[in-house]
Amino acid sequence: MSRPVGYRISSTKLVYCPRQLQWSQRLIYLKHPFRRYTSSKSPVALPVLAPLPPTLKQKAAEVVYSDLPSGTTVTVNGWIRTIRKHKKYAFVNILDGSHDKVLQLVFNDPERVNDLRVGVSLTVTGTIQRRQIPADPYEILVESYNVLGSVPEDEPYPLQNKYLSQDYLRRELPTMRFRSLSSGVTMRFRSRAVSELGRYFDENEFIQTHPPLITSSDCEGAGEVFTVVSESSETPFFGKQGYLTVSTQLHLEALMMGLSRVWTLAPAFRAEKSITSRHLSEFWMLEAEVAFADRLEHIMTLVEGLLRTALTRLKESGELETVLSVKAYLENRKPQDGHGEDKDQEITRAQVLQRWEGMLQNAPWMRITYKHAVEVLKQAEKEGKAKFESSAEYGDNLKSEHEKWLASQYAHGPIFVTQYPSQLKPFYMLPTPGSCGETVECFDLLVPDLGELVGGSLREFDYNRLKTSIERAGMDTGDLEWYADLRKWGSVPHGGFGMGFERLICYLVGIYNIRDVIAFPRWVDHCVC
Ligand code: 4AD
Ligand code: MG
Repeated sequence: MSRPVGYRISSTKLVYCPRQLQWSQRLIYLKHPFRRYTSSKSPVALPVLAPLPPTLKQKAAEVVYSDLPSGTTVTVNGWIRTIRKHKKYAFVNILDGSHDKVLQLVFNDPERVNDLRVGVSLTVTGTIQRRQIPADPYEILVESYNVLGSVPEDEPYPLQNKYLSQDYLRRELPTMRFRSLSSGVTMRFRSRAVSELGRYFDENEFIQTHPPLITSSDCEGAGEVFTVVSESSETPFFGKQGYLTVSTQLHLEALMMGLSRVWTLAPAFRAEKSITSRHLSEFWMLEAEVAFADRLEHIMTLVEGLLRTALTRLKESGELETVLSVKAYLENRKPQDGHGEDKDQEITRAQVLQRWEGMLQNAPWMRITYKHAVEVLKQAEKEGKAKFESSAEYGDNLKSEHEKWLASQYAHGPIFVTQYPSQLKPFYMLPTPGSCGETVECFDLLVPDLGELVGGSLREFDYNRLKTSIERAGMDTGDLEWYADLRKWGSVPHGGFGMGFERLICYLVGIYNIRDVIAFPRWVDHCVC
């Protein structure tokens, strides 16, 4: 059997079989053929660290890995989290958001902390005192410090060192919540996830692109666009109506026609009024487009490979462990009265672990057609295995309760539902061969507890058929002429997908509400600061 070029699943027994366009359990390939910067002849030792004041995370790594002895003088920066005064000593914990740990400062004269308050930022010089606590291997005996920014003496620091629900943080402290432990862990995880997803694309020869956010068309045709107007011009600024993009897909397709494999992580805007824990008006969508992909399996396998690889690496680098330990810490803290709903406490550590295990299971993710999914749902209801508010019917969109049930109870993990009826999906999807246009070559990836995480499809690549499809959808053919024209000049079979980035983060970190994994969330009637 030929070697699957470009695939690297190291810690599971699952491998990609290009012939079957499937994942199988037979072989493991570890080495990536195009890996860069690994040559022993490389003249530069990477990475080159920027000469900046070190973060507490960098300092901790230096102390631990360089084995700095007790008594070594160091300088650190941070914000005060807690102050504890005793008879002979005072202890001040500082943090800087670079990791989830605090650093303990020791003052051998408690009077020296009289001027300090929680929230104050400072630079401290002192000596290392090593400790026999693996999670907390050193503290600093303070010699001198310099307050960089004080806090008002007559007002309590808004971010008290007690349990504050996500809902409270979002409502009451929209700018300060990034200083909280729970928000910090989410923001750091977001950042690491972007790196790992990008790394996978890079290794698979995808080009990262940056399509526009202002467009002249509604990609999904669902009428959920925000229009862009200029305060200073009476006529349309762009000479015609401009919109904020609902998906960069159409422009990605143009980029794909020149670059073959493209991806982007970009904001998407939707004026949908559904106030759910899964919807935002402004969110980030990870999208990819692949030239010469002529089978839906190509795209599903790409999505599965991307998520499996990124998650495996995030797990290996300790991100899951951090998420779980912060969750454990928060679970043990008592919610304060009057701090609003707290659904996050309902998502347990075990549940988060189960979600990761489901994604990294030792078997390919389940794939079923929409038709089969409806049959399964009906059967489950008939047999009393499931009870839905509204029954699934062929021809209707699957409701959130159906999606969640399929993933949680039927697949016990991620599940691809394929080939939906064409009237439920946008104009650009390729009809299933032999279905007389009844269904299209598309999929939704559903995951337990959440429902839809990814949507993807093969695209119609014939000029005339696409035009007919645009007309049938009642869309303006003039606005989409440029898009249809892509099919005039050397069109190729192709496909792609879009994944809601915040939905992925919510799912993996175990946060209930999508508004709590994005900075400054926007939804209907809400655009604070
Ligand atoms: O399923 P959607 O609408 O698909 C598209 O927009 C395609 N053009 C993507 C493509 O093929 N390039 O959106 C893709 C994903 C959904 O599966 C969901 O995870 C997320 O985007 N999403 C939202 N996330 C947060 N808030 C919203 N309002 C969202 N709407 C969709
Ligand atoms: Mg969708």
